[in-house]
Parts: sequence; C-alpha cells; structure tokens
Amino acid sequence: MIRGALALAAGLSAAGAAGADPLLLEGHGGPVMDVTVAPDGQVATASFDNSVGLWNGAEPRWLEGHDAAVNAVAFLPGGGLASAADDFDVILWRDGAPISRLEGHAGKVMALAPEGERVASASWDGSARLWSAADGTLLQEFDGHDGPVNDVAFLDAGTLLTASADGTVRVWDAAAGTEARQIVTGGFGVNRMALAPDGAWLAYGTVDGTARVLDTATGDEIADLSAGRRPILALTVSPDGSHLAIGNGEGHILVARTGDWSVLHDFRATDRGPIWSLDFAPDGARLYAAGLDAAVHVWPLADLDAQDAMSTADAAFLTDPATVPNGERQFKRKCSVCHTLTGDGARRAGPTLAGLFGRPAGAIADYPYSDALADSDVTWTAETVSALFEIGPAHYVPGTKMPMQRIAGAEDRADLIDYLRRETAPKE
Ligand code: HEC
Repeated sequence: MIRGALALAAGLSAAGAAGADPLLLEGHGGPVMDVTVAPDGQVATASFDNSVGLWNGAEPRWLEGHDAAVNAVAFLPGGGLASAADDFDVILWRDGAPISRLEGHAGKVMALAPEGERVASASWDGSARLWSAADGTLLQEFDGHDGPVNDVAFLDAGTLLTASADGTVRVWDAAAGTEARQIVTGGFGVNRMALAPDGAWLAYGTVDGTARVLDTATGDEIADLSAGRRPILALTVSPDGSHLAIGNGEGHILVARTGDWSVLHDFRATDRGPIWSLDFAPDGARLYAAGLDAAVHVWPLADLDAQDAMSTADAAFLTDPATVPNGERQFKRKCSVCHTLTGDGARRAGPTLAGLFGRPAGAIADYPYSDALADSDVTWTAETVSALFEIGPAHYVPGTKMPMQRIAGAEDRADLIDYLRRETAPKE
C-alpha cells in the first residue's frame, strides 16, 4: 500500500501555522503528492486537485490537463516538464502548455525519471516505460515485476532501476529493455529510491519502514537508517550528494549526512499525516516537504550548513556523532530545526528557547503563538518541559501548534533539559 491508498480524512496542520512558518507554497486545492526543485530554483508540484503548480515568482502557474490526481512531476533537462497521474497518462509540457500526452500505461503512473532527451515512467500496471521527452514516442517497455512499480531512476544513461511493491529493485538495460539483475530482493514492498549523484550508492525505503543504503556496484549494505515501522514515502538526496532526507507515513523527516551516515535531524514535521515528497533547494539549505496539506512547507536547515561549514573548514574540529553528549544530540535532532537557543532572530517555525527556564508559556513578544499556548498558565521549568515531552505537546497543552512528539526515555529527557538549561541561560 502506498501513497494513493492512505487515508485522506485526517487534516494536516504542519508546524508553525500561518505567520510562523518560514515559507509556504500555497494555492493547491488538495493534498500535494510531489514537489521537485530544478537546478535554477524553480519548484513544481503535483496535486490531488488534478493540476501541476509551477512556482517561479510571486504567482504560481497552474498547468491543467490531467483528468485525475497528479502523482509526480519532473523538470526535463531539455526544458519543460513531465507529469504523471491517476488517469494513467504522462503529459509533456512546454511553456506551461501540454505538447503531448503519453498514453499506454494500464494503471496509475506514480513516478518519473528524466534523463537527457528521455523520460521513464513507473506504473501500478506493473511496468515501466521509456519515452522520448521531445515528441512522446514510446522507446521501450520494462516488464517483469510481480506487482505495482512505485519508482524509477536512471543509474546511468544506459541503466534503469525500478522499485516495486513486489519487494524488488531491478536493474535494466535501458536500450534493450532486458533485466540485468535484482539489487534488492525478497523484502517488503519498495516505495522509493534515491541515488547518489555519481550513482555510487542507492538508498531505498519500504512499506515497513526499512531505509537502507547499498553500494550499487556490489549490492553490499552501506548504511541502515530504518527508524520504526512507518512506511517510507519520500526519499531525496541533496544536489551535491552530501545529505539524504527521508519522509515517512507519520510525518517524520530524517536528515542524514551521507559522509558518515550520521543523523542530523529527526523531527516530526506534521502532526497528522504522511510526508509524500521531499526535495532540497539547489544549495541544500532548505527542504521542501509535501503531504496531506494543500500547502508545501519549506524547512530551513541552517544547522546543517553550520555543521558542514565547520567540517569542511577544519576536519579535525569535526566531532564524531557518537561522542556528542546525549542532551545536545537530542536537541540537534529533535528541536533545532524549529527552535534557536540564542534569540538571534533566526527564523524558525517555533519561538526561541533563549531564557526559557522561569519564563511563562507564550512570552516571546513578536512570536505568533497559538491561543492555546498563549492562554495557558504554564511556567517553563525542568519539570514542565519534561512533562511536555513525556506526554507530548498536544496532550500537555491541547490546541498547541507544536507538532506531536514524545521523548519516551526519562534519561533522554533529563539530558535534554540539562543541555537546554546550560544553553538557554542568559549570558552575562
Ligand atoms: C516541527 C517544529 C518543532 C519542533 C521539532 C519542536 N518544536 Fe517546540 N514549538 C514549536 C512551535 C510551532 C511552538 C509554538 C507552539 C504554539 O504556539 O502553540 C513551540 C513551542 C515550544 C515551547 C514553548 C515555548 C514558549 O515560549 O512558550 C517549548 C518549551 C518548546 N517548543 C520546546 C521544544 C523542544 C525542547 C523541542 C525538541 C524536543 C521542540 N520544541 C521541538 C515547534 C517545534
């Protein structure tokens, strides 16, 4: 079961509603299934509202042509866009107008992979197809999976990868249409793939929450980033290959550094519903996330930058993630994407935590708190912050817009609070 089958009843309210969110792409009339960023920073979105959105200025442009929910959109290297939908078709667009409709799949088309003058499509009809991106001619078909094909990617110009609900990732000769080998076999259904820019490794995510990285030449496992059993629905690599982002069925986003596969961020980005698609900005400093919400949320990853700048400037300064004290690690992974500790005015979804202890809830003057938090009579102390994450913000302050997240381990909470007490104390 992947994207289309997930319940749509739950309304998603992402962290930092109107005003507090650093950036929102708003305008679609339904959930957003795919978001993709071009090298020049243009953004395209695919939505349940049957349209493709093109965002390159103040006003989004709407590309109308599909007769059903649009699942995937891709920028074509030669210019223009391709989109794939529940109407079983792929449409090629140029200057915002449809130039050809690629018909032939017998099921929903779920993913696209452009390469040079060609574009590959993955369908729930169990096949992948390769088309000319210039005129829409069908160039090749890839048949052999025992279930829906969920994703497709080019390892190199001559080699196509397909990921299927049948639990395999298959490697194909793109010109001949023949299967060369299976690089993943015998597991749970594979939803998503992401490749290193040089093709050296393949990350894949499954319906049972497995997120693994393999050496594409040998098939050997390089890293295992599985965290819980929530289906992995989104996977993306930053353009320079330095970071991998994973989104799951419960709205968590995990960001790892590919150099040592350490986890930099692991946070709940939505309080309900899945993350269906993620993509990095060209400079890697922001992450675009799409899901049940009609708006695409853009997360600044400032801390990523700081850590990278540090590691490239002076490698000896780089701390082994295993030696970072637990409290600091808890904060970096679970809080820093939304909160600063210093009140330096950096824009985050949440209020600064500078001077937190002893402060009444909702006290930062220019931060747009929810009424629930602003009107609560909580004062932040070691005990109340611990309780906040022992039972979760939504239970501690019903109506808060801080996304649901719990820190179950008493020791993890204590270490985090020690760290926060040190780092948020007013500096004399
Ligand atoms: C995905 C974003 C996000 C993450 C991650 C996050 N928070 Fe928050 N936090 C918020 C938002 C948004 C608010 C404001 C809530 C409101 O107004 O209802 C908030 C409010 C708070 C407050 C109340 C502050 C005040 O001025 O009253 C505290 C304390 C807090 N967060 C601590 C944390 C800690 C500690 C972590 C990590 C374990 C964390 N948060 C993780 C978004 C987040």
